[in-house]
Amino acid sequence: MTRGAFCRTFIRLRSRRCRINIPAQIEKKSLWTAAARGCAEELCGRHSVLLAFSALFFFSLIFSGCRQDMHNQPKFIPLRSSEFFADRRSARDPIGGTVARGQLHEDTYLYTGKRGTAYGNELPFTPANMHVFLTRGQERYNIYCSPCHDRVGNGNGMIAQRGFRYPPSLHQDRLRNAPLGHFFDVMSNGFGAMPDYASQVNVEDRWAIAAYIRALQLSQNAIAADVDSANQNKVNTTLPKIFIPSNSKSDLEVPRSQPNERGVKP
Ligand code: HEC
Repeated sequence: MTRGAFCRTFIRLRSRRCRINIPAQIEKKSLWTAAARGCAEELCGRHSVLLAFSALFFFSLIFSGCRQDMHNQPKFIPLRSSEFFADRRSARDPIGGTVARGQLHEDTYLYTGKRGTAYGNELPFTPANMHVFLTRGQERYNIYCSPCHDRVGNGNGMIAQRGFRYPPSLHQDRLRNAPLGHFFDVMSNGFGAMPDYASQVNVEDRWAIAAYIRALQLSQNAIAADVDSANQNKVNTTLPKIFIPSNSKSDLEVPRSQPNERGVKP
């Protein structure tokens, strides 16, 4: 109980007693008797305050006593030295071969994207629903990668436009032919100027992004023959017309900004 709440409770207790008794007594008895009664009430009130304080003091003694054992238990504060071990370090190395919970990583392909030393080109697991999996990859890509690589993957993201090194387009032949494991590895360990995203994006999501990059690459290099025969007739009629600036060199190329302040060219 806080001090304010404690005082309020006591003021209420005392004044209730006075309200009930004193007016009735003044009516019945002489002024002197009433005054004597008033004094007695006052004294009684003081006693209860004293009583309460001593109870509080008593309980605080009991409860503070309980905590001491836990406070004073023998322990080493991190990095504190110790006379017990020859190397004078209180912290000991884990026993060789110890694996932290959830860190076994038995499935090396899942965690490295490599079989032996070569990158693999397939997913390490079969997603329950490929559409949901790719949508998740798209969402994660748009959050973590598009600031530099832009949403289409041309490498013209806002951070690059503001001075960071321009990433390569994900639609160049070298990266279109790169295996999925390579994308996973780039996200897990970084690549050149690009930082790694291992702590921000979990393993499954990194594979989802890798799969989405593949989908992006297919989308940017699709030809009319890729559309199945049932939908062939819709290709030129229902797809929205894309505006291509007249100074653009090719239909697929998105115009890039000029070399940035540091002179780094796209
Ligand atoms: C801060 C900006 C930035 C972000 C965010 C970023 N990248 Fe990069 N990325 C780069 C740069 C810069 C390069 C080129 C690095 C170099 O060549 O030094 C690059 C290169 C790459 C490459 C090509 C590697 C190669 O073989 O040439 C891939 C693939 C890639 N990034 C994927 C991703 C993915 C996936 C994400 C999201 C998880 C991502 N990047 C997020 C800046 C970024």
